[in-house]
Amino acid sequence: MDFYQSCVRPLLFRFDPERIHVRTIRAARAAGRSNIARGALERLYRFEDPRLRLRIAGLDFPNPIGLPGGFDKNGLAVQGIATAGFGFLDVGSVSLHPSEGNPERPRLFRLPLDESIRIYYGVPNDGSETVARRLAGIRLPAPLGINLVETNTGKPAPAEEVIEEIAQAYRPFQGLTDYIVINMACPNSGSGVSALDDPANLALLLQAFRRYGSLPPMFLKMHFAPEPKLIDALLEAVDPYEFVKGFMPGPDNKLPPVLKTPREQLERTRGSITGPHKRESANEVMRVWYSRIDRSRHILVSAGGIFSAEDAYERIRLGASLVQVYTALVYRGPGLVKRIKQGLCALLERDGLQHISQAIGVEHETKPGKTPLHARTDARAA
Ligand SMILES: Cc1cc2nc3c(=O)[nH]c(=O)nc-3n(C[C@H](O)[C@H](O)[C@H](O)COP(=O)(O)O)c2cc1C
Repeated sequence: MDFYQSCVRPLLFRFDPERIHVRTIRAARAAGRSNIARGALERLYRFEDPRLRLRIAGLDFPNPIGLPGGFDKNGLAVQGIATAGFGFLDVGSVSLHPSEGNPERPRLFRLPLDESIRIYYGVPNDGSETVARRLAGIRLPAPLGINLVETNTGKPAPAEEVIEEIAQAYRPFQGLTDYIVINMACPNSGSGVSALDDPANLALLLQAFRRYGSLPPMFLKMHFAPEPKLIDALLEAVDPYEFVKGFMPGPDNKLPPVLKTPREQLERTRGSITGPHKRESANEVMRVWYSRIDRSRHILVSAGGIFSAEDAYERIRLGASLVQVYTALVYRGPGLVKRIKQGLCALLERDGLQHISQAIGVEHETKPGKTPLHARTDARAA
């Protein structure tokens, strides 16, 4: 057990999770603004290796380990957070209008027996204008993305309104971020079903983005059952939109989780649950998606239950070009990013591979010795 797990985590876990989240962002913001603190953290967490560099959709990723949406929701602390050595960072989710999120408290819960988090935030954020102003002029050593979502108003809105809102939310970020993530979850649907999971609505959303002319690479983040028919329908809808460069398919949130946390404790909490129990379903999602996409056009980014280099490597072997970690940072601390990168290099050596791109999708090879399918992706060494 390292210093974070033995000393820092027990202290942090004595306080309300949302309060700790806010304080962590504040601390990272302060660290990012101080040259001395930033330099010290960069030295502590530095681990660069050319075998982990990837060029994807015209962007240079120093490594495939990213921070997903939901950690720095308001773009307050990206410079501080980047010192942990991420290969890319999503800010958000951000909506067109500011939102307080769900009114009920508490709305963030730890389930330590399962190393999991239960989230009922309801995408609180300061709104796209404010967040964009914060990102102006920020330079990072890794690609920065903006993750956009519908505003949480507590009332379901017609699909056309959701579409127009998300398209407008992007306006202030033009020229500021390296990529766009569309969080296709609809916080107001009440049922967990997203209007944007309907391919026709998704096509309308992408059409609405045409107003911007040239766009940076866009990735679509969704959570629905990995059924080949659904995936194929979505791929067909996306086909005319060349700016869509990939997908972030997450584990199906509607599956009931199998957890060690006692039922009585779960009943006192609410929201979706992240953690290692999602690993298998996220792996399965990757397996199915990788077999459906046109790898010469699209890549996959995967998050869900990644806690170690072995987990990240497995996800990459199943087809992810990039992976993201969130819950594991809460349980293992920021040093995890460096440990995953070091571990990935050791795993490449073990398997006699020269570069991480050679591992992408190898689980799909049918016969040993056959040209790996990953050779057809556009994820190559920078
Ligand atoms: C506290 C918390 C807040 C989150 N908020 C968002 C969000 O605003 N937007 C989003 O796209 N994903 C959000 N997520 C989901 C993460 O981006 C990620 O997809 C998910 O946690 C799975 O990764 P993990 O198993 O490494 O945590 C959130 C996750 C957590 C734990």
